[in-house]
Amino acid sequence: MRVDIVTIFPAFFDVLNVSLIGKARDRGILNLNVHDLREWTQDRHHTVDDTPYGGGAGMVMKPEPWGEALDSLLSPDAVLLVPSPAGERFSQPLARELAGEDHLVFACGRYEGIDQRVVDHFAARGRVRLVSLGDYVLNGGEVAAMAIIEAVSRLIPGVVGNPMSLVEESHEADGLLEYPSYTKPAVWRDLHVPPVLLSGNHGAIATWRHEQSMQRTVQNRPDLLGE
Ligand code: ADE
Repeated sequence: MRVDIVTIFPAFFDVLNVSLIGKARDRGILNLNVHDLREWTQDRHHTVDDTPYGGGAGMVMKPEPWGEALDSLLSPDAVLLVPSPAGERFSQPLARELAGEDHLVFACGRYEGIDQRVVDHFAARGRVRLVSLGDYVLNGGEVAAMAIIEAVSRLIPGVVGNPMSLVEESHEADGLLEYPSYTKPAVWRDLHVPPVLLSGNHGAIATWRHEQSMQRTVQNRPDLLGE
């Protein structure tokens, strides 16, 4: 998969050199490129923002540099992703959908967002999605893009070593939250690992894990059960 990220803060993405994503890049599974929006400005000051029409607080990102950046980066089959608190909610099903794409381009806005005509222009010519990480406001799209890239790339075959570890986690398969996990030692600070996990009885372990998933979901995310 090819991923292009346009931002005025390329340094945010330096961390994508480490861990599983860094390895996927080294192995050529993920072709990830970070671009500085200011490369596409024409003026001496590399201006990327201006005051909003209609007044109001903050600055809006100018359409011209975005237009040129996206003209040069978007391939015919690319999906343009614009992180925004005004977008559709990001989710595991959307991550799965995006993991099947060949080319993702992220437009990371700052300030009060990007001039709306940028989205309108490219939506008339290709696939564009405004995506929100959740009901809270970040300073810009960079952290959201990073979360989306991690959630998507770990679903690409070969990125996560053991594909079975993708099956039983939260928001997969049965739609419940993941059950709690334990490892050695069996007793730590007087806390015992639940005995069923030491029993070797796989049926009983599966039942216990399902009950735990259910309990956690009822307690933390009743909305997932339609309640
Ligand atoms: N940019 C600012 N806030 C955001 C959010 N909640 N999700 C995605 N992008 C954002």
